[in-house]
Amino acid sequence: MSAEPVISFKDVTKTFRRADGKGDFVAVDKLSFEIAKGEIVAVLGKTGCGKSTMFNIVAGLTEATEGKARVVGHDPFREFNFFRGKIGIVFQNDRLMPWRTALDNVLLGLQVLNTDPKQAEETARHWLARLGLSGHENDYPHALSGGMRQRVSIARAFAVNPDILLCDEPFSALDEMTARDLRAEFVRLVRQNDKTAVFITHQINEAMEIGDRVMVFHRPARIAYEARLTAATGEAERTQVRDDIMRVLSVEPASA
Ligand SMILES: Nc1ncnc2c1ncn2[C@@H]1O[C@H](COP(=O)(O)OP(=O)(O)O)[C@@H](O)[C@H]1O
Ligand SMILES: [Mg+2]
Repeated sequence: MSAEPVISFKDVTKTFRRADGKGDFVAVDKLSFEIAKGEIVAVLGKTGCGKSTMFNIVAGLTEATEGKARVVGHDPFREFNFFRGKIGIVFQNDRLMPWRTALDNVLLGLQVLNTDPKQAEETARHWLARLGLSGHENDYPHALSGGMRQRVSIARAFAVNPDILLCDEPFSALDEMTARDLRAEFVRLVRQNDKTAVFITHQINEAMEIGDRVMVFHRPARIAYEARLTAATGEAERTQVRDDIMRVLSVEPASA
């Protein structure tokens, strides 16, 4: 018997009311999957296929219309408070508060959890240092590059020591060199700290660099293909997986 999954979806559907009032729009269609502790799962799909909608259900930001979504056995939407400090989120936009310094932005989550102020500052400084931002603690977001701001938001996510990390295209606005560095750093941090992570992306390269499991979505969000990659996966097999993913993505028309 395997342990209880960290994240499980059972026939999860999400529909939105159409703006013109003419019926419902299906963004997620009877989606089922399980993610085990310690897995890093990359979710890959074209823009508009429903990745963020799925992500928001996991993060408890929106509720499934039908089906059952569970995170460590709890309902992420209805038991939002249960998840305080248990989930770290990194969005595409760094979502830093412009009036707070890098240090104060990282401190925010710790303050919300009522961490002892001295301990909180030590933790925040530690994570900024881990992300190569020593000396920038007192800089405001506008004084930092895009890559540095995203490092601050990663530090903020890790600082509360959550069991689960959720990332929605966190590096897609960055140049490829910076993104590659941050991906490697992110995977290292997740592994070293024994976290479970879901990482959304629309780039094949990124999905394959990040995930030890890649789930490819078609629109509306449902699993069209899935592959597992480990350190032991050889070059030939990786090329095969990449070809398979390209084929799966190409049979689906792009959407607006
Ligand atoms: N709040 C909403 N109201 C209406 N439609 C939405 C809403 N959020 C997303 N959608 C629609 O659902 C589909 C999937 O969106 P999204 O999950 O953001 O896709 P992705 O993240 O894969 O680009 C899109 O067609 C989008 O327009
Ligand atoms: Mg999205």
